[in-house]
Order: sequence, then structure tokens, then C-alpha cells
Amino acid sequence: MVSVWTATAEVPPYDALRTDKRAEVAVIGGGWIGLTTALLLAQDGADVVLLEAGRLGSRTSGHTTGKVTSQHGAIYADLIDRHGEDKARLYADANQAAVGRVAGLAESEAIDCELIRTPAFVYSPDSENELKREVEAAISLGLPAQLTDGSDVGVPAAAAVRFNDQVQLHPVKYLAGVAAALTRAGGRIFEHTRVVGLHEKDDVVRVSTEAGPEVRARHVVVATLLPFGLTGGYIAKTRPEQSHGIAVRLPVEAPVGMSISTGSPVRSTRPWPGGGPNGLIVVGGNHGTGTVEDTEAIYQSLIDWTSSTWNYSCQAEYRWSAHDYSTPDLLPYVGRSPGSSAVLVATGMHKWGLSNGMVAAGILCDLVAERTNPWTDLYDAGRIGDAKAVAKLLKDNLLVGKDFATGHLSRAMHGRLDHLEVGQGGLIDIDGQIVGAYRDHEGTLYTVKPTCTHVGCALRWNNADTTWDCSCHGSRFSPDGTVLDGPATKPLSRDS
Ligand SMILES: Cc1cc2nc3c(=O)[nH]c(=O)nc-3n(C[C@H](O)[C@H](O)[C@H](O)COP(=O)(O)OP(=O)(O)OC[C@H]3O[C@@H](n4cnc5c(N)ncnc54)[C@H](O)[C@@H]3O)c2cc1C
Ligand code: FES
Repeated sequence: MVSVWTATAEVPPYDALRTDKRAEVAVIGGGWIGLTTALLLAQDGADVVLLEAGRLGSRTSGHTTGKVTSQHGAIYADLIDRHGEDKARLYADANQAAVGRVAGLAESEAIDCELIRTPAFVYSPDSENELKREVEAAISLGLPAQLTDGSDVGVPAAAAVRFNDQVQLHPVKYLAGVAAALTRAGGRIFEHTRVVGLHEKDDVVRVSTEAGPEVRARHVVVATLLPFGLTGGYIAKTRPEQSHGIAVRLPVEAPVGMSISTGSPVRSTRPWPGGGPNGLIVVGGNHGTGTVEDTEAIYQSLIDWTSSTWNYSCQAEYRWSAHDYSTPDLLPYVGRSPGSSAVLVATGMHKWGLSNGMVAAGILCDLVAERTNPWTDLYDAGRIGDAKAVAKLLKDNLLVGKDFATGHLSRAMHGRLDHLEVGQGGLIDIDGQIVGAYRDHEGTLYTVKPTCTHVGCALRWNNADTTWDCSCHGSRFSPDGTVLDGPATKPLSRDS
């Protein structure tokens, strides 16, 4: 599962943490949010250590669509309905400012990341009506929005809301540049260092790692997509949603702007400069992480949509998937983790974490420096939300409970491990014992106990990405049980 971005950019390697360290701020997670926050902190004069479980930019941030825009689908009419015009305006301002701040950082640090200013479109394939409300909302909030007849989208559309002067970039090239800027500013980066615990005492947080060495810090920023373990209780306040992407070459020049459709199924596109003038990225196939086994069918649906839209036989040159977390009230959680004065978090970006992540980095940096920030209250990490939001949380958590109970039994195949074909994986019921098994293309057989090491939900096999995925809170594991995405911090047991 290599994305077009991770396959086409070099991120210089950094050593693992081998000895104990002290720092003013420990940032956990080397994705878009952790790296950006660490850089802003270091440029602000803080002594920063960044700890990354794997490679920098290799998880969700390395698998995005690479759109940096204040246009988050057709969100603004909904935001006004739910939060009122003042809060919706704050969100719009924050994200519109973030677009400029990302472009400004790329320029000031001379980051070569294929950054292009381009329009973003949210379009309806079949009706103008639903977009009228959205364009009115966006204009009322001061966003650069206009309603068009859809002919400028480059994908069949009945109407579109166009935001001019947004940004597309190569996210991994950008993050490699941010990491280089961070080390220039004095930050220390350690890869292959998984954090397994935080222990807060007497104004110091002890950050413990899987391999043993510790970091002691005055402040800790947890930027691990979803806070790992049980930190802050965010597992009960967010839901994971996975999407799939393909990079293709069209038979004609690709549309110049970035687009996303309303309704279902959602299709999101943008040019793929690495694929030449015809290169296009198509993202969609959204579903709860760990809820679909046949993800091959999802990639095929993206290929079919591209083939029929441009009337040719499309082949995907790269394909990948990733997930992000949503919150019940559409707003991310950024700020102090409940009950802690030293632990800060950023999560729940609703698949718009490139602009929201820049907003988050600014808020977190200002909290450490004890400065005011116009968006701290809006993104408050301690809020629970209104009655509608709480009702949704309860419903989602009932679904999680269901996966504990019914998990494996209904999905297991009866059989023997030696019947598993090359490339085949899944749950196997061997005399009443359920085993997770996969035979790779070299014929090597991997077996694991298919129970999530986070809090024990049943895992589901994902046949195209060849991963074990958890529907409860989104942890993902490789066939040999290695943690790919938290909140789990421990690998799957191999003694099944
Ligand atoms: C398919 C898809 C497309 C998207 N497209 C866009 C887009 O076009 N525009 C946009 O604005 N947003 C987009 N998003 C959302 C955006 O990509 C995310 O919100 C953003 O990348 C989140 O960044 P992050 O740093 O929180 O997460 P990540 O990139 O996942 O970084 C978290 C890091 O923490 C590390 N980590 C985890 N646990 C530990 C631990 N215990 N110890 C140490 N390190 C740990 C991980 O290895 C990882 O590197 C998209 C999301 C998806 C799923
Ligand atoms: S991610 Fe929480 S139980 Fe699997």
C-alpha cells in the first residue's frame, strides 16, 4: 500500500531514540500536524524533540489528496446551522488563513513540493439547488466563493461552488522540507520510536517509549492522528473513516482544478503533476475503517468511475488507502487534553487536516507560549458538544460495542491453513479456534491472533491493502502483526 506520494519522494532518515533526553516540548507523531507544530515551536525558540513511531510522513499525511483549501466539501451551510454564523466565520477565517500560511512556509523555507495555486470546486453531478445554500453561506462568511454552471470543473457537473486561489502540493515533499527546516531551527527528530505512555508529575511529563529510553518534557503534544492508548478519552469522541485513492493517466489533459462531489459516492480529484499533463488523482470509496473486507471492489469502483467519466480503459498506476477521524459536531479537537495541564492534542480533522492541521499547529504553539489565539475556543479539545452531538456519540459507541460481541464468528472461513492460496488472507476457524492468516506472494504464511491490542475488538481482514483493521477506533496492523496506525501501541500476538 504505497501512495503516489510516498513512492515519489525521499524523506531523509533519522535515528531512533537510544538514550534518555530532556526537552521543553516533546511532540509525538511525525505527520503533517506533529511536524508543523514542532517547526512553529522551534522557530518560536522552544527546545523540541519529535518522536515518530515509523517514518516521517508515512501514515495518513503521506496518503492524502494533497489539497490545502478552506473548501471542505459543502460544509459552510451546515456549520452555520449547527454553530451559528460567528463560529462558522471563525472556522472559515482559520482555514483560509492556513492556506496562505502553508504556501508562505513553503516559500520561506524554499520547499520544492510541486505547490500550485489553483481553484477548488465542490460540485453536484445532477442538481444546482443544493449548492445555492452553500454558496450563499460561504459568501456570507467572506470566503472567495462563486456559483458556476459546472462547466469549469472538468468532470460532468450540473453546478459548482468555486473557491479561487487554493493550494495543491506533494505532501511528502512538503513534509521532508518541514523536517529539514525543523532540524535547522534546532529541533531533534527521532524515527522508529513508538511512544507507549505518558506519566505526568510535578510539572514534568515522562514520555516512555517501546524500546525503553524516555523523554522528560514540560509540555507534550500528542499528534498521532488519534491520541494513542486511552489519552484524553478521544476514542469515545471520534469515529475513523477510511478512503481509497488511485493515480491514473487520462487519455486527455487532466482537469486543472481540484474537485469534490456532493452526495454519494463522493469522488475527489486533483491533477497529478508527476503523471504529466494527463495525470489525475481520484479519491473516494469512504467507509468506516475496519468495516469492509473486500476493498479490492472499492479500488475497482474508482477505476470504473474514471473509465466511464473519460470513456477509456483506466489503469491505476498507484493505489492506496488511509483514514482520518471525524467528530460529532464537525469541528476538530485541538488544545489541552482534559484533566491535564501539560498534554496537548490535535485530532478529528474530518479529512481536512492539511489546512486544519496548520490551524492546530498555530493554536498549540500559542498555548505553549501562553499567547492568545483567535481559534483556541472554537477548536477546544475539552468540549463534548451539543445534545445532537452527544446522541451521535452514543449511537456510534453502541456500534463499537457490537463489534466486541459479534466480531469474528460470523466472518471466519472453515478450513486449514495449508489451503490458503498465495495472496489470500482472512479469518480461519480451525476446530473452534479463530486464527488470522495471510499467505504472501512469496508463499510465506503469517498467522496472528485477530484481536485488537488496544481494547480487544475483533479485527477484519482488508484484502486489497493486506492489513488487519479495527472498526472500533481505527487501529491497523500489517499481516505479521506490526502496528501501522494507533491508537494501539502493541503488536498483535503471533502465538495463535
Ligand atoms: C484518503 C485521505 C485523503 C485526504 N486528503 C486530504 C486533503 O486533500 N486535504 C486535507 O486538508 N486533508 C486531507 N486528509 C486529511 C489529512 O490527511 C489528515 O487530517 C492529516 O494528514 C492528519 O495528520 P496527522 O499528523 O494528525 O496524522 P498522521 O499523518 O497519521 O501522523 C501521525 C503520526 O503519528 C505517528 N504515531 C502514531 N502513534 C504513535 C506513537 N504511539 N508514538 C509515536 N508516533 C506515533 C504515526 O506513525 C504517524 O506518522 C485526507 C485524509 C485521507 C484519509
Ligand atoms: S482500535 Fe480500539 S479496540 Fe481496536
